[in-house]
Amino acid sequence: MNSKFDLAVMGLGYVGLPLVVEAARAGLRVYGFDVDGAKVASLTAGVSYVEDISDADVAEALAAGFVAGTDPESLGQAAAVIIAVPTPLRDHLPDLSAVRAAAGELASVLEPGQLVVLESTTYPGTTEEELRPLLETGSGLSADIDFTLAYSPERIDPGNETWGLRNTPKLVAGIDDRSTDAAVELYSMICDEVVPLSGTREAEMAKLLENTYRHVNIALVNELAIFCRDLGVDIWDVIRGAATKPFGFQAFTPGPGVGGHCIPIDPGYLSYKVRQLGYQFRLVELAQDINNRMPAYVVERITGLLNDAGRSVRGARVVVFGVAYKGGVGDTRESPAVFVVERLLALGADVSYVDPYVDKVEIAGEIVPSLPYSPDAAADADIGVLLTLHPEFDVDAIAAAAPHFLDTRGVVAPGIGERL
Ligand SMILES: NC(=O)c1ccc[n+]([C@@H]2O[C@H](COP(=O)([O-])OP(=O)(O)OC[C@H]3O[C@@H](n4cnc5c(N)ncnc54)[C@H](O)[C@@H]3O)[C@@H](O)[C@H]2O)c1
Repeated sequence: MNSKFDLAVMGLGYVGLPLVVEAARAGLRVYGFDVDGAKVASLTAGVSYVEDISDADVAEALAAGFVAGTDPESLGQAAAVIIAVPTPLRDHLPDLSAVRAAAGELASVLEPGQLVVLESTTYPGTTEEELRPLLETGSGLSADIDFTLAYSPERIDPGNETWGLRNTPKLVAGIDDRSTDAAVELYSMICDEVVPLSGTREAEMAKLLENTYRHVNIALVNELAIFCRDLGVDIWDVIRGAATKPFGFQAFTPGPGVGGHCIPIDPGYLSYKVRQLGYQFRLVELAQDINNRMPAYVVERITGLLNDAGRSVRGARVVVFGVAYKGGVGDTRESPAVFVVERLLALGADVSYVDPYVDKVEIAGEIVPSLPYSPDAAADADIGVLLTLHPEFDVDAIAAAAPHFLDTRGVVAPGIGERL
């Protein structure tokens, strides 16, 4: 087909926008489609709203022919279309409504010869059982004959300066060999290494395995942290020791819980699918249970430290350091630190936060006061708490200045503050 665009990307968020930038850099003419007109206007004006993408990156893409728009018609003028729309949980259940809506928008303009790739994280079977019929019914075309269809999981790690879209191996799988070949050809232009898998279900599952692996291992060390303390064992020293084994062990560290758009959400997609088979994915559900309780455990530790100092949590001045879900980024989605703040506020504490990456935190309609970063930001408080380790934080200095200090990341020097 003779296309106006080499690639269209549906959904210009944390996943879609880096894809646009990398594809444009690879010389592809890209159309970016989003239902959010404000995002489209921002990109058209050369302004990025995704942390890892600079305005200069957007300008470079625009100069290479990138066009952002809200018009689905142009989707039919691209050789390939990648769908990167949100797949959240709603009431603890997968919500594929954005994928379905995107499929509807695309189906009405789908042309013979186009390649369609789903990148949104989802449970195995989505590409073939949900996306394919929507595209075929809506367009009157067949994926066996007229167009090609594949799945490719996004493995982006926000804030990671070593591993990006280009140098992280890219998994792809089509519904048949023709589709796999088309997807391999597309991604070979954007990524250094493309790894074909045997089927779309395997590619969908591979992503869920990666994130479930992290989720379960984080839960393991979180649970260990709780009872190691009761046993009088220093979990951080235990992990330091175990991590010296050159084989068969990968170190994970305890913390206030899991956050971000992937780790807390993706295992829910898998356990939902397993429940449909009539049984539970017990390991995942247990891990969710343990990780979800960590913010409450952190609050219990804060309450205990205040109690030791003869203070009640009600009315105590608490300064938390870091509210983003991980260090070096400003994303607070599902951040366990926000749950900690919420619980402390509910107990009547006077909470402020320090986070150079996060401008605003709103809980139950109230803005949580923020303080600029300074090592002595908690000097006048009753307690300082490290929740997210940002590279700017001098934790030993923060702990030394605060009257009491809880470090949930295990980095403070011994003797200055308490570790989780
Ligand atoms: N954020 C990450 O680090 C990450 C990493 C790997 C995988 N993922 C997965 O990638 C997918 C996208 O996540 P994200 O973080 O980019 O989400 P996001 O919310 O940042 O962006 C999604 C974009 O899709 C747009 N959108 C919603 N419905 C649409 C529709 N019908 N048509 C066109 N655009 C539509 C939204 O306006 C938004 O701009 C999800 O499945 C997520 O699980 C995310």
